[in-house]
Amino acid sequence: VTWTTLPAWTYNNAEFLALEKEAIFMRTWQIVGHVSELKRPGDYLRFDLLGESAIVLRDGEGKLKAFHNVCRHRAFRLLGSPEGHCDGLIRCRYHGFAYDLKGRLIAVPGEQEFDGIDKSKLGLVPIEMEVFLGFVFIRFADDGGPRVADLLAPFHDALAHYRTEEMEPFGPTSTTGIRADWKVAVDNNLEAYHVPIGHPGLQRLYGTTYTLEVQPLGVSRGGGTLRDQASANWSERHYQKLLPDVAHLPADRKRAWLYYSVFPNFAFDIYPDQIDFFQYLPLTPGRSMSRSRSFVHADSRREMRAARYLNMRINRQVTFEDVELVEGVQLGLGSRSYHSGPLSRKEARVHQFQELILKRIPVAACIDPPESGTVAARNLQLASMPADASRESVAV
Ligand code: FES
Ligand SMILES: [Fe+2]
Repeated sequence: VTWTTLPAWTYNNAEFLALEKEAIFMRTWQIVGHVSELKRPGDYLRFDLLGESAIVLRDGEGKLKAFHNVCRHRAFRLLGSPEGHCDGLIRCRYHGFAYDLKGRLIAVPGEQEFDGIDKSKLGLVPIEMEVFLGFVFIRFADDGGPRVADLLAPFHDALAHYRTEEMEPFGPTSTTGIRADWKVAVDNNLEAYHVPIGHPGLQRLYGTTYTLEVQPLGVSRGGGTLRDQASANWSERHYQKLLPDVAHLPADRKRAWLYYSVFPNFAFDIYPDQIDFFQYLPLTPGRSMSRSRSFVHADSRREMRAARYLNMRINRQVTFEDVELVEGVQLGLGSRSYHSGPLSRKEARVHQFQELILKRIPVAACIDPPESGTVAARNLQLASMPADASRESVAV
């Protein structure tokens, strides 16, 4: 059977996005950041997704906590900046309800004017949180699914080599708006079939050495090893030449560029000189953003500083190229001529990703969108049918 892509309509449909929010985004682990961004008691990171807002903060005992970023009085959004520090307590800027760093409501201005208020029942609402190799994840709704450590178990040892717990931020968190659905961006991120044409730089650096590995549960890896032959491009050639030895990495990792991804929307980009997390977040139908931050080990060698700078230049170019590619796909998906296309084995990670979407949202099997207003109902109907019966055959 030829693998085929998800139907075009699923990439730009408000009702489908609403299903994605509930069936996927609220129920999967979302990366918020890294422990090095939350060093002192009161340090926090905010994470927003499809109308929900979470905060992760370090309490007075040094423990990390995650809460909904919503005041229990009249729902004011408590913390407004993406990251910051609160001194000992979180005070709502509307009427002044104050919460301690464990989320307990500790002060209510004019408390005697509330009839029978029970502060002990009005603490910030907790959110499930997990720290994996120094990275902090949350999940808005606990559906009993596997933890991050279970999902990434096949790659735990490979990732552990990088000692990510001890890393420090390298540059700020960066966000980029993308005029494409989040799935277009993830699809693109999961395959290197486009590298020879879409990324001449990556092709020169490692293109022919690219391998991929698909593990169950929506976890996969791609990547390559720097070639010995010097690139014709200035940044690439100097990166090849200057990248110094990283003593704690095994031999086959010292010159490897690797991409690990976890369903639905995040990846680690792993280089010998730095690593980053990368996340695609839906905003509105057909629009998304990427959110990423890089982390490094303390290393003052001149060659390492140069390699990090060159890596940034090389990958900044790759990002420009990818954004142009995914925005071009989004434009094409809007064409009345296009419904679905074939996928090659080189796109095996894309296939796995899309099958997981289909499993969670069976209406994605419909080649044409259900009538407006009926997408959720049709989805429920298909969810009660055997999976094979619901998939419409697509001629490609
Ligand atoms: S909404 Fe927060 S104190 Fe009123
Ligand atoms: Fe790409």
